[in-house]
Amino acid sequence: MDDGRAPPMWIILFVLICQLSLICSVGGVLCPNGCKCQNEILRANCSGAGIQVVPIQLNPELHVMDLSDNKILQLHYTFTFYENLYTLDVSRNKVKDIGNGNFKTQKLLKFLNLSSNYIEFLGKDAFEGLVQLTELDLSRNQLETIGPSAFKDLRNLIVLRINDNQLDFLEEGTFKGTPNIQALYIDDNSFLEIPSELSDLTHLKILSISRNLIEVIKDDEMPSLLELQTLLLDQNLLKEIHPMAFTSMPKLNYLDLSDNNLTSLPTTQLSKLPKLANLKLSGNTFTHLPPVSFRGLFNLKYVKLTRLESLTAIDVRAFVDNINLEKISLDYNYNVNNIPTRLFHGNTKLRYISIRYNAIKILAATHFPLDQMEELKVGGNPLDCNCSMLWLWKILQDNKLQIRDNVSHYRKSVVDDKASKLPSELKLDINDIICETPPNLHNKKLVSASQREIDCSMSWLAILSVTLTVVFILGIIIGVLIFMPKKKSNVGRDRHLPKIVKGGYNAPPLPPPRKPLPNNDVNHVERFIVPPILLQNRSMPLWDSYSQHCNGNGNIYKQLDDQQDRPHIVYV
Ligand SMILES: *[C@@H]1O[C@H](CO)[C@@H](O)[C@H](O)[C@H]1NC(C)=O
Ligand SMILES: *[C@@H]1O[C@H](CO)[C@@H](O)[C@H](O)[C@H]1NC(C)=O
Ligand SMILES: *[C@@H]1O[C@H](CO)[C@@H](O)[C@H](O)[C@H]1NC(C)=O
Ligand SMILES: *[C@@H]1O[C@H](CO)[C@@H](O)[C@H](O)[C@H]1NC(C)=O
Ligand SMILES: *[C@@H]1O[C@H](CO)[C@@H](O)[C@H](O)[C@H]1NC(C)=O
Repeated sequence: MDDGRAPPMWIILFVLICQLSLICSVGGVLCPNGCKCQNEILRANCSGAGIQVVPIQLNPELHVMDLSDNKILQLHYTFTFYENLYTLDVSRNKVKDIGNGNFKTQKLLKFLNLSSNYIEFLGKDAFEGLVQLTELDLSRNQLETIGPSAFKDLRNLIVLRINDNQLDFLEEGTFKGTPNIQALYIDDNSFLEIPSELSDLTHLKILSISRNLIEVIKDDEMPSLLELQTLLLDQNLLKEIHPMAFTSMPKLNYLDLSDNNLTSLPTTQLSKLPKLANLKLSGNTFTHLPPVSFRGLFNLKYVKLTRLESLTAIDVRAFVDNINLEKISLDYNYNVNNIPTRLFHGNTKLRYISIRYNAIKILAATHFPLDQMEELKVGGNPLDCNCSMLWLWKILQDNKLQIRDNVSHYRKSVVDDKASKLPSELKLDINDIICETPPNLHNKKLVSASQREIDCSMSWLAILSVTLTVVFILGIIIGVLIFMPKKKSNVGRDRHLPKIVKGGYNAPPLPPPRKPLPNNDVNHVERFIVPPILLQNRSMPLWDSYSQHCNGNGNIYKQLDDQQDRPHIVYV
């Protein structure tokens, strides 16, 4: 019984070993020079192997084949054996013509990279059979025309890259068979207008048309792309966007119009984009940002307005509608020398402001909502570092200490009141904040200025002048205190006397008597004016009282002299 069973076992083992060795030889022996064949995971990597033809002896079960960076010239009948490919990379080769029906058997292929070849034309059956393909990269070729039904089988295509070719139009029906494309890259071609064929791409979410030759977007030209979220139109020649151009993409979230020839802000056009969150308008030729520049863009979070070389004025109300604004870049606007205070007053969610390399001399703390900000970049401006910049200096000192000590919640010392209330996390481009004036701080970092240099109240001139003033006032007070009595007794009397003499007898000015004379009556004024004889005649009792008081002493002058406070004038 046992002997009878043994031979079949041997046969089975033999067959098994043969099969194993066959597989081994397929993997090991038949893997061309320069290729790495990982049969256990069904991958072959011949990238950079220097091959000129597609190897046909590789494992036919392969899922991944990388043939990039070789010298392959043509693909005719080469992939027929590899029916299980998921990923095929033929990028950076020398393929001129991909022919017709060469992918007919790749029913499972999901990813095909034909980038960086010399493909000039796509015939109508170029991609026949690629019904599972989701991503096709045809970038960096020489495509001038795409046959109208070249993409007809690509019903599952999601990402199509045709950037860096020489296309200036798309044949009618190009995208008829590819309604599921969500991302289309046609940058770096020669399109003069937005291709109307795009209207077949009803699921398109990302459309990149950067670096083409588009000058105008007309109202009726922009296809209706209801799902579009990202539109890149930077580096075209746009000088005009018709008012209703953006009405057919209600979900647009990200729009790049940088580096075009727009001379005025497309406020009306943009207001048709209620979901817009991210907007780039750098490198255009706007001269000013008018009030409510971004009208109706309540969801705008980030706006980039850099390299606007003609920009000179920003209205204080430019961003009032953008209540959700979080980040703004205004760098390299070389002709902006002033930003309005409270420009960002209504933008309570603003966290990041960058205004590097403008022509701003003075920055006030009121320019920025400092208590809510996380990052402020103001480097490269020709700052006038006088004491109106003390607030910034203080923040920079705080920053410097934080960096040095790496204490995340450092609050103390040099920094007082206002600055210490700031979130200590405020980031600044500390090393780029350089002073232009005054001369003693020219080309120096603001952060390295001493407190004496930047703080007016601390300047030695101020200290000196304050000290001098105090000394001067003290001197006067002391002087007054010392010399006051003398002045009153001597100078005062001497001064009055000649004046009255000069004034004549009729109406001399009358200093009031310090003490009322004894028996002061209604006629006392006359007594000073009227000569003593007359006075005597009119009021005898007064005289009597004197004579009585003086014990009959008839020398009236002597009596009056004894009366210290009585002015002499009366008797002159
Ligand atoms: C093939 O190898 C190259 C380097 O030799 C590597 O860069 C590339 O990612 C590999 N391809 C795959 C599909 O793994
Ligand atoms: C296709 O290949 C090129 C060159 O090897 C590479 O730069 C590109 O990223 C690849 N495309 C995709 C979608 O991976
Ligand atoms: C567009 O702007 C560029 C650079 O700003 C300029 O060289 C070019 O002449 C302008 N083109 C048109 C059509 O206005
Ligand atoms: C600082 O300089 C600016 C001009 O550069 C001037 O307007 C401002 O009054 C100066 N501030 C002080 C406190 O000197
Ligand atoms: C400060 O310390 C933390 C860890 O405590 C580290 O992650 C961070 O990079 C440090 N920062 C600096 C500026 O050294």
